[in-house]
Amino acid sequence: MSRRRQIYEGKAKILYEGPEPGTIIQYFKDDATAFNAQKRGTINGKGVINNRISEYVFTRLSHIGIPTHFIRRLNMREQLVRQVEIVPIEVVVRNVAAGSICKRLGLEEGEPLPHTLIEYCYKDDALGDPLIAEEHIACFGWASNEEMQDIASMAIRVNDFLSGMFAAINIRLIDFKLEFGRLYDGDYSRVILADEISPDGCRLWDMTTNEKLDKDRFRRDLGGEEEAYQEVARRLGLLQNDESAQGEVFDLSSHRSKLRGTPKPKK
Ligand code: TMP
Ligand code: ASP
Repeated sequence: MSRRRQIYEGKAKILYEGPEPGTIIQYFKDDATAFNAQKRGTINGKGVINNRISEYVFTRLSHIGIPTHFIRRLNMREQLVRQVEIVPIEVVVRNVAAGSICKRLGLEEGEPLPHTLIEYCYKDDALGDPLIAEEHIACFGWASNEEMQDIASMAIRVNDFLSGMFAAINIRLIDFKLEFGRLYDGDYSRVILADEISPDGCRLWDMTTNEKLDKDRFRRDLGGEEEAYQEVARRLGLLQNDESAQGEVFDLSSHRSKLRGTPKPKK
């Protein structure tokens, strides 16, 4: 048996060569990092949940005509995706002020923004993914004007769709990060949605309580991160009873009470 070839190891995923040319396997790890990997930890079961949530979200997005790299989920932690050339830009879409924009502009967390804002960061860990303007993207040729138009219009469509999708399960989509990649076809290329969409790269607040159901629980040492990720998956209808049969047990009753800060019921 030959060992498959690892292409890249990131902070939350490992990429392996796929079974056919032009495909890649994305393996979702439990590792969590924050503040440009200055803070490191693990969130048990995160990889399994993010694999499922990302599969679900990318599939729903493809149904509304957003081109994505997703092909199919292979198993609990892996999915098959199209190989793309990642555009070196993180696209952050914000509906409500939270996180870095609050520090930068002195806004209060939770303040709705006058309108949806798209920000761009240059994907470079050594530089700490600095915020950039569209002029930097054009000046340094990180993406063409045409690609940026496609990226911005897809980002807005993704935001509209996901805001509604999450609102239907009583979750407010505060902000999120997208990545795009180039898919080549001969001399031509087009940009498609890549990477993942999961509570690692989104801020998701319960609409009733404003409880954080995303990686901010880890970033800010709030605790209950495993339960928060499970809660998102559960509300999306992705946690079924058969999960435990595959070796991952999700105890829903206990995590919900933990999230609210009440003690676990005694068995
Ligand atoms: P920020 O407020 O820290 O700039 O983050 C905005 C959104 O982007 C938030 O939902 C988390 C996500 N994000 C990532 O997915 N990766 C990152 O490296 C950063 C900084 C943010
Ligand atoms: N994933 C990023 C990191 O570790 C930042 C974050 O999500 O907060 O550096």
